[in-house]
Amino acid sequence: MDELQWAGAVSEKIKKKLEITARRNAHKIPYTTKDGVFDDKSKDEICWWTNGFWGGIMWQMYHATGNELYLNIAKSNEKELDRNLMDAQGMDHDSGFKWLPTAVCDYRITGDLDARNRGLLAAGNLAGRFNPAGSFIRAWNDNGDAGKAGWAIIDCMMNLPLLYWAYAETKDSRFQQIAAAHADMAERYFVRPDGSVNHIVAFDPVSGKFVETFGGQGYAAGSSWTRGQAWALYGFILSYIHTKKESYLDTAKHVANYFIANIGPDALIPVDFRQPEECGLEDSTASAIAACGLLEIEKYVPQNEKHIYHQAAIRLLQVLDEKRCNWEENSDNILEKCTGAFHDEEHEYSIIYGDYYFIEAIWKLTGQEIFIW
Ligand code: GLY
Repeated sequence: MDELQWAGAVSEKIKKKLEITARRNAHKIPYTTKDGVFDDKSKDEICWWTNGFWGGIMWQMYHATGNELYLNIAKSNEKELDRNLMDAQGMDHDSGFKWLPTAVCDYRITGDLDARNRGLLAAGNLAGRFNPAGSFIRAWNDNGDAGKAGWAIIDCMMNLPLLYWAYAETKDSRFQQIAAAHADMAERYFVRPDGSVNHIVAFDPVSGKFVETFGGQGYAAGSSWTRGQAWALYGFILSYIHTKKESYLDTAKHVANYFIANIGPDALIPVDFRQPEECGLEDSTASAIAACGLLEIEKYVPQNEKHIYHQAAIRLLQVLDEKRCNWEENSDNILEKCTGAFHDEEHEYSIIYGDYYFIEAIWKLTGQEIFIW
């Protein structure tokens, strides 16, 4: 089977499974599964950062099939998120993850002006998190434990496209300036000389001076949390796509080259490239996210470099399909062995954004994608 036939076959498996799981979970906003059944964050955690991904899956499915089942679920997910939009303490830097795959995607597909309004409200709030001293977007609020005012995290590279979209939509250049200032800061403080990245960088929020780095969801400070690597390589190529600033392409390639060099013989991605060798914990989300970023990088490099990024993406996706996808129709999730954080008590379960990025990657290969970021 050649590569296109393989991608087409995976696309069919996704469509067959989603037709069933979407109907079964129409009124939920899932994060993970228990015994194969999706949970529902709309009930008790409407501000959770992953609550846009189910809507994102629905929009990708609607775009690929035209089936209104998906449109209706996506619209309902978007409206549920208004409870988050009206909760100041629940608004953090993850507005891109929440409203790009929902409201902004809705606006792009249907032209719905209420959806555009939601996107602009979320973008305004995200821009308001910019800390001029230090030029970073503050990640989290002090919900429970104080002291995070000066923290920026690599994941935020994936939230910047909400600001690029708002700039394109309104021509208010502050959106673009804030996004680019954060990306410039990230090049300087997050990306290490070898292409690995820090997860958390702490600044003094008043002076803007660098304080220290933390290992965050990875193994330790100075280690290499694989999902953070994936957010970085995908996030920097997105900043390049939106600004055409050459250094962002170079940085995306630098991080991607490091990621590719660290893929082991089985191409299953650990939680951290620098976790103890005997540990063996995996995170399939890092594979799926990295594959999406690599397929974007492929589009912007010279002809004789394209195969480097393309082949790495295909290898990651084919291994996921063979070894880490659950195609059983009585199980709601697709990807298995996803991990939230190295030091969590639980590891290797299903996570909704793993499924989202896996579908996005397969859609990129089969020409069915609606561009979300
Ligand atoms: N953005 C949080 C995470 O990747 O787990």
